[in-house]
Parts: sequence; C-alpha cells; structure tokens
Amino acid sequence: MKILTIHGPNLNLLGQREPEIYGSKTLEMINLEIGQRGEALDLTTTCRQSNHEGEIIDWLHKAASEGFSGIVINPAAFTHSSVAIRDAIAAIEIQVIEVHLSNISARDDFRQKSLTAAVCMGSISGFGAASYLVALETFKILLP
Ligand code: DQA
Repeated sequence: MKILTIHGPNLNLLGQREPEIYGSKTLEMINLEIGQRGEALDLTTTCRQSNHEGEIIDWLHKAASEGFSGIVINPAAFTHSSVAIRDAIAAIEIQVIEVHLSNISARDDFRQKSLTAAVCMGSISGFGAASYLVALETFKILLP
C-alpha cells in the first residue's frame, strides 16, 4: 500500500524553526523516520514538501492516479487559512489524515481552528514527529 505524506509551508525549516515548539528534528530526519516506520508496516511511503498552496492542491488531485491509497498531510499554516486545500481534500475519494507536530488546540486562538480537519478522516496533533508515525499506524489498521 502506497502512502503519500505532504508537508506544508515552512516545514522545510524544521530543526532551526522555533525548536521549542516544533522540536529539533529536521524534515530530512522526520522523512527518514516515516520511511523506516513505513517499511516496518509494509507501507511504501513518499514524502513531499511545498511552500505553495497550488502545488499541494495539485498533489492532492493527482494522488489517486499516482497509486496512493492514503495521504498524511501537515498543511502547516494553511490549516488555518486555506479554503482551497479544504475543498481539494473534500473533492478527492482517497482518505486523508491531518497531522501537526504541536498541539494546535493549546496554541494561539487563530491556530485552534482547522479549516481542513473536518474534511479529513481524523487528525493527530501534539506528538512531534511521532504524529506522522501514528498516522501511518492508523492507516495500517484502517485501510483494507
Ligand atoms: C503546524 C502548526 C501550524 O499552526 C503552524 O503554522 C505550522 C506547523 C504543526 O505541525 O504544529 O507551520 O502545522
């Protein structure tokens, strides 16, 4: 089973970006963990990062035709602002799990609202890089 992970804007700066909130792991380290956990679960994982809303939307649209069975997405700041990404998730058949490194429910008021979570299968927030791994485990349990 193929799972696509999409990292949103500014996540390319992980490791140096507000480490007290997002941790000290770089995106490369997190992607390595995703790959290793995927292998252990017999999932084929692909990770992509973009700072551009349209590119993320194109990846969501194309995921099924690329053979992916599920998508793990951290929409980052687009979580709180992007009706377009919400609509793209709602438009596709493929199952999507939203993840966040930080616990967005415990942060600034404007971060507590996710426009995207309601159109996802569910969301996992606040476990650092482990949020992504929990999402992979969840797909392993739930997808046929
Ligand atoms: C984030 C939380 C968002 O509020 C923020 O804009 C991010 C990262 C997280 O993973 O904790 O860029 O999605």
